[in-house]
Amino acid sequence: MILNLVSFMLIWIIGASKSWENREIMTEALRRGHEVRFRYFNRFLIDFSDKPYVYYSGKKYKLPDVALVRGVGRWKNLAYIITQHLKNKHIPVFEKPEVYKLDNKAVHTFVLLQHKIPTPRTIYGFGAELADHTVELTSYPAVIKPVIGAKGRGVVKTENEVELREFVPKEEEIYVQTFIQNPGRDMRLFIVDNQVIGSMYRFVPEGDFRSNIALGGKGKACEAPLEAEELAIKAVKALDFQVAGVDLLESPNGFMVVEVNRAPQFRDFSKTTGINPAEAIVNFLERNAKK
Ligand SMILES: Nc1ncnc2c1ncn2[C@@H]1O[C@H](COP(=O)(O)OP(=O)(O)OP(=O)(O)O)[C@@H](O)[C@H]1O
Ligand SMILES: [Mg+2]
Repeated sequence: MILNLVSFMLIWIIGASKSWENREIMTEALRRGHEVRFRYFNRFLIDFSDKPYVYYSGKKYKLPDVALVRGVGRWKNLAYIITQHLKNKHIPVFEKPEVYKLDNKAVHTFVLLQHKIPTPRTIYGFGAELADHTVELTSYPAVIKPVIGAKGRGVVKTENEVELREFVPKEEEIYVQTFIQNPGRDMRLFIVDNQVIGSMYRFVPEGDFRSNIALGGKGKACEAPLEAEELAIKAVKALDFQVAGVDLLESPNGFMVVEVNRAPQFRDFSKTTGINPAEAIVNFLERNAKK
């Protein structure tokens, strides 16, 4: 006799758009017989009360058994409040409301370092007055990054003080990292619920140092060594993400964490590895839904 231990659930996927990934997750959940609704951040109206429903698009809706928040973009404050609001109503919601502050790369790096996770040496501050000091403090080559990631855009490699001075932001947060020598690729490990479900190399395109697929980086499935898997899981635990894409660099001194992506996209990962993270994500939601 086959026992179906999973009862059907009402799942909300909360996001900014019905992206390819969000549709994949919804399709997988529907295939298993669950009820799934996509909820846009900017259609919630939060009534700060403990009523057993939520206002969405001007109507009352019964609460889901579990909710997954995906790409947040400009809706960070809404995402924080919606997530906290659902949590207050005892709905299991992922990721946790606290994660949004980690979107700032400096906060992210700070947490990694607090947990003694190897990551490139970083200098952080604000504005023109500190540019001179940054130029002296960092080592070269140095990488300047916008504190809010944008798929590699605005990430610049500088070879010396003159170049760094030219590119260091004057009216914004400064985030400068030592460039880590690497074999022209990084490793992306996809992690759900503290388990590596697959990994791939991302090779940097000719004439660049960034491996982002959006900039022409090429994926190739790979088997991550145990050491890489352990480091990636440690990083994910430090940041307390449930679904994450960890980017590692193979430095001359071993693996280093460049960043851990929350709610990662996975179209290229799926195509490259043949692994569909939507399955592991829905398994996770099933395990964590309100009983
Ligand atoms: N310190 C470094 N040394 C060598 N290469 C780096 C370093 N930092 C970043 N890179 C390369 O540049 C790419 C982009 O950097 P990073 O991932 O930090 O920013 P981002 O992709 O714009 O951010 P997000 O993924 O949050 O959108 C990395 O994938 C990596 O290939
Ligand atoms: Mg990145």
